[in-house]
Amino acid sequence: MFPERRMRRLRSGKIKDLVRETSLSVNDLVYPIFANETIDSPQEVASMPGINNLPVEMVADEAKEAADLGIPAIMLFGIPEKKDEQGSSAWGDDDVVQQAVREIKNELGKDMLVITDVCLCEYTSHGHCGMVNFDTEEIMNDPTLPLLGKTAVSHVKAGADMVAPSGMMDGMISAIRSALDNNNYHNTPIMSYAVKYSSAFYGPFRDAAGSGCCFGDRSTHQMDPANSDEALMEAALDIEEGADIIMVKPALPYLDIIYRLKTEFEMPTAAYNVSGEYSMLKAAAQNGWLDEKQVMYESLISIKRAGADMIITYFAKEMAQMLK
Ligand code: PBG
Repeated sequence: MFPERRMRRLRSGKIKDLVRETSLSVNDLVYPIFANETIDSPQEVASMPGINNLPVEMVADEAKEAADLGIPAIMLFGIPEKKDEQGSSAWGDDDVVQQAVREIKNELGKDMLVITDVCLCEYTSHGHCGMVNFDTEEIMNDPTLPLLGKTAVSHVKAGADMVAPSGMMDGMISAIRSALDNNNYHNTPIMSYAVKYSSAFYGPFRDAAGSGCCFGDRSTHQMDPANSDEALMEAALDIEEGADIIMVKPALPYLDIIYRLKTEFEMPTAAYNVSGEYSMLKAAAQNGWLDEKQVMYESLISIKRAGADMIITYFAKEMAQMLK
């Protein structure tokens, strides 16, 4: 008790470094990259200052810049020229993601881990993550699964090191695991967007990827922000189906979920610090309302403290620079 116990003793000078419980390293960061087949010069995403849509020929340079900063991994998204009801430009050997993976791997090889987002929403004309029954406007689960399997295989065939299914279809992890295994990709890990909330924080991403919906929303397959026990069930199922890494998305409004997952499963756990989390800090910083570097660090260290082993973040390059 006070006055013998004084908590302030350990809060100044070098001793602070000694007692720090959590650390953030460049090795914790994954940088998202958008390869866009419809443009021939970089295009900044209006709602995400500093983040560009890139033509396929330029993704390798962007990945190299990340690698030079020591960032170990990227998460790759594709924006195709052609969209249709099935999302068939998601799985062709020469489609946008497959080309982008090859470009990056040719340039960087083992110096960059390439993770690909596996979902149909950027490829479907209706912007939904799966096949749609237009009579009922239902997003159909089971018919979507083989398409996700095929997409994942095409990414790995092009050279992707890991696939990250993000569509929140039930059974997607086992569908993708068996598709990979049937093609002899036994050693390719799956990072599952296991716990993905139906969140308005994805708004700027949908500008970036042109994947907004023309009808309906994702609340029938993404999780209700009010739920937490359900997150444990989602993660348990994905682990049983073969997920190697489980992800929580978004990150900051769901730190309690990251904590619960890490504590319950003791699995490698990722957190996606999503577009809206990035944009709100950027906007406030541009207005001079917040100190950008400090709030960036504070946000990312909080996500680590909650239990995440790795963070997918649009701040990756800036954070890496600051850590140097
Ligand atoms: C689906 C996907 C989305 C994000 C990552 N993968 C969009 C969605 O579910 O609507 C969002 C990422 C972000 O907001 O930064 N392909």
